[in-house]
Amino acid sequence: MGTPSNIKLIDENGLRLDGRGDEELRPIKITTDVLERADGSAFIEWGGNKILVAVYGPREAYPKHTQDIEKAVIKARYNMAAFSVDERKKPGPDRRSIELSMVISNALSSVVFLEQFPRTSIDVFIEVLQADAGTRIAGLTAASVALADAGIPMKDLIVGCAAGKVENTIVLDLNKEEDNYGQADLPVAIIPKTKDIVLLQMDGDMSEDEIDRAMDLAINASLKIYEHQKDALKRKYFSIAQEDEQ
Ligand code: CDP
Repeated sequence: MGTPSNIKLIDENGLRLDGRGDEELRPIKITTDVLERADGSAFIEWGGNKILVAVYGPREAYPKHTQDIEKAVIKARYNMAAFSVDERKKPGPDRRSIELSMVISNALSSVVFLEQFPRTSIDVFIEVLQADAGTRIAGLTAASVALADAGIPMKDLIVGCAAGKVENTIVLDLNKEEDNYGQADLPVAIIPKTKDIVLLQMDGDMSEDEIDRAMDLAINASLKIYEHQKDALKRKYFSIAQEDEQ
C-alpha cells in the first residue's frame, strides 16, 4: 500500500477515479444456472470483476480420507485465470489462492446443513476470469448463489463487501487502484438474516473507529447485494415456471 505521488485516488470534489462517491457500490449483476453440466452455477459481474462458479455435489468424497462420517465437507477452490490480471498470473495454486479457498470454504460451511450429507463433498469451483479487487468477496457471494442453484439446503445465503481507507477517507467497495495504493482494505461477509460475520480480514491500518465505520458501510452494502442474489434466484424459478406453463 502507499500511493505513488502521481496517482490521486480521490479528487477535489470527493470523487474516486471511477467517478463514485465514497459510499457507492460498483454495478453488480448476478446470473444463475449458467452451466449445464454443473449441479449449480452462478456468474457475477461486479465492477470489473467477472467470476464464474460451478458447484458439484453432494457426492462421495474422494480421496476417502477426506470424508467425514458425520457430515459433508465443502471444498471450495478459488482460482485466478492467468489472463485475469494485468500481469500474467502463473497458473496453479499459490499461497494466496490456498488461503482464499480455505476462508471461502469455512464461510460456506457455516450456512449449509452439512450433517444431512455424511461422507460427501460439495465441490465449489470459483474461477476468476477478470479481476478488479474484491474477488474473494465477489466469489463467495456468487458461490452461495450457486449452492442455492444446486438445491443444497442452506439456512441462508452469504453475502459480503469490502470497505477500506483511501487518502484518509473511509470508502466502500475498493477498486484495484484503491486496493493497491490505498491505506487499508477490509473484506467482510455475513449471513444476512442473523448478521453473523463469517469472513473478516484486513490488509493495512485503520483505527478502531475507522474499522467500525468501514464495517458498518460494508454490512449495509451487503444487505443491498443480498437483494441482487435473491433476484437472480427468483429469475431462475420464474423462467422455469414460465417454461412449465408453455
Ligand atoms: O481480489 P481481492 O481484493 O479479494 O484480493 P487481493 O489479494 O486484495 O487482490 C486485489 C486485487 O489485486 C485483485 O482483485 C486483482 O485485481 C489484483 N491482483 C493481481 O493483479 N495479481 C495477483 N496475482 C493478485 C491480485
